[in-house]
Amino acid sequence: MNQLDIIVDLQYGDSGKGKVAHFLCRTKKYTHVIRYNGGGNAGHTIFHNGKKFVTHQIPVGVFYGVKSIIGNGCVVDPESLAKEIRDLESNSIKVKGLLFVARNAHTVSASHKKEDGTDKKIGTTKQGIGPAYRDKYARIGKRAADVKTLKPYLIDLYEEFHGSKKNLTILAEGAQGFGLDIDWGDYPFVTSSHCTSAGALLNGFAPQSVRHVWGIAKAYETYVGLKNFEPNDKIFEKIREVGEEYGATTGRKRQCNWMNIDLIEHAIKINGITHLVISKIDVLNQVGVWKVIQNGKVVSFKKPADMKSYITKLLARLGIPAKNVYFSERKDRI
Ligand code: IMP
Ligand code: MG
Repeated sequence: MNQLDIIVDLQYGDSGKGKVAHFLCRTKKYTHVIRYNGGGNAGHTIFHNGKKFVTHQIPVGVFYGVKSIIGNGCVVDPESLAKEIRDLESNSIKVKGLLFVARNAHTVSASHKKEDGTDKKIGTTKQGIGPAYRDKYARIGKRAADVKTLKPYLIDLYEEFHGSKKNLTILAEGAQGFGLDIDWGDYPFVTSSHCTSAGALLNGFAPQSVRHVWGIAKAYETYVGLKNFEPNDKIFEKIREVGEEYGATTGRKRQCNWMNIDLIEHAIKINGITHLVISKIDVLNQVGVWKVIQNGKVVSFKKPADMKSYITKLLARLGIPAKNVYFSERKDRI
């Protein structure tokens, strides 16, 4: 039986999935890493051997020589993928021979990007994501198997995951987050893909194969896009500066707010979270304010230990034992 570990974001993206994927990939010895949703809109910041990389479409497996797949839940932009491959290879990360694209993944065309470039309603990343998924569901899209330049990378996911008796251990690296999910996010200020653990299964996995579901959340929230998100309080400017909260893909300012416990609780239940990482707790330490929002009200803590024990207790109530909860700081770079 294959074993699948899934990484999902419990907020609005940018909570540290790339870093956790990189860490798990090093320690858990996966046979495959698969990206299961989204496309060039993602920006995963990774520190590999002390050097900073931002990946967009390529799964983290390439950093450790692990077979890395862009799954059928994604939309692939062949042009920017070629650039991403060149950039990694010119920095001595071997990609060719490790990277594969599901034959049935849909593709992003130049006209999708042009159309998305005119968006003034959502504040998209302008990577053609919405138009590409729209065409997929309107049954007028183009799959990877029909794009000449992707030929060397094509893979059949049924054959790969179910075609042999071998037991595979697969890491499913998600993109975006619960608050941006097409169904569970704050519609229409969402992306066009499934950002939950269910979205991972759509890439050819049976529910029984799921071993762990890693939920990733930041100690405060950030959101990039056109809705009004940040409360009018200078403290959030401070958090943005200290936390370096600017988009990895677009360089835009990320709006900030306190961690919303209700959102986290919804995301934990819907994703079936078994392990949880709370990232960037050191940013709040540096700013010297620890707060969360619960039932629409701000709850304040005197010190980080109080916030940690509050979160740990909440998670225990939701069935996640303290031994599966990790608070990480920016310096935890590997
Ligand atoms: P799209 O996915 O480019 O269509 O953008 C839709 C919304 O999702 C916008 O508010 C984007 O800023 C946001 N978004 C998309 N991808 C990411 C991401 O990887 N991190 C954070 N926000 C994202
Ligand atoms: Mg990001």
